[in-house]
Amino acid sequence: MPFKFFSAVCLLAFTIVTGTGVYGATDICAPGSVGASDAATPMTQTILPNIFDPHSPPARMIQELSWLVLGISGGLFIVVEGMILYGVIMYRRKKNQKNGAEPRQVYGSNPVEIAWTIIPLLIVFVLTLTTVRAIRSIELTEAPEGALQVVVIGHQWWWEYRYLDPNVPGGQVIVANELHVPINRPVWLRLESADVIHSWWVPALAGKMDLIPNHTNQTWFTAETEGLYLGQCAEYCGNQHAGMLLRVVASKPADFDAWMQTQIAPTVNDPSVAMGRDIFQEYACSTCHTIKGISDGQFAPDLTHLMSRQTIASGVAPLDPATLRAWINNPQELKPGCNMPSLQLDSQELDAVTAYLLTLR
Ligand code: CUA
Repeated sequence: MPFKFFSAVCLLAFTIVTGTGVYGATDICAPGSVGASDAATPMTQTILPNIFDPHSPPARMIQELSWLVLGISGGLFIVVEGMILYGVIMYRRKKNQKNGAEPRQVYGSNPVEIAWTIIPLLIVFVLTLTTVRAIRSIELTEAPEGALQVVVIGHQWWWEYRYLDPNVPGGQVIVANELHVPINRPVWLRLESADVIHSWWVPALAGKMDLIPNHTNQTWFTAETEGLYLGQCAEYCGNQHAGMLLRVVASKPADFDAWMQTQIAPTVNDPSVAMGRDIFQEYACSTCHTIKGISDGQFAPDLTHLMSRQTIASGVAPLDPATLRAWINNPQELKPGCNMPSLQLDSQELDAVTAYLLTLR
């Protein structure tokens, strides 16, 4: 009898491990193989951080693995707790039992010993293999074919994205905080850090991946649905850890290309806001922020095409003139503890700098 049970478990293990099950069908190099974009889906759809709503193969792998682990451990829980309950109820002290009288003692049983050695071994074996398999499919050390390659750099407390593109001058396009990607094309991320450990986590797209100083991690995703994907830094990195929000905009390839063109375009130079530009250059703004052709600071987000973004302060506040002005006036009010100081500009200077930034399309 126990051997019939072993065979059933072995068969189950074999089925899962040989991939007729969980990850067998995943093909990262075939964009659009799963749930291609739906024409009725509005572009502005917001996809919340929810591990149970995957829109990308790695997120789906993780969800399926979670269900498998949950199923196996749930089954174990029911079996073990069931046996405990059975023992407690069936072998409780009987009404007429004498004090100190012991039930019949049983020592050793080869079938039982073998069963509870082999079954857990098989379970651990299955969990290990499926987990290793998922990790190997997610932490790709080489770019999937046709992938968009992006270097992600974590900073206290914002995200830098460098699109590696040999066709643009300098070979890369640098943006901050809002990652734009085309749908149905693999995006291969190389994750680095400029200071402490951060963790890139957009649950609907992929699992958490740490950004570690002096070490590069890799992950990838393929957004299958158009929309705005939300996420959050998932490794405590200082007092604005919670203000290090992630936004990924996935759009049709043509819309993505149009966005990329705006990022490659030269800096807007509007003479009507020359006063604001001069203040930006003369004050400390330019030591931290890059505006191509104007300044080359490396410590803070690149502002060359600031107005192509929806938010400021790494997703903490919307990008509109009033909020932008308030942010420049006193960043500590919006994002306490952040590394941007208030430059104590007077109201005329504030207006001028804000007006200048608002032209950076
Ligand atoms: Cu960056 Cu937490």
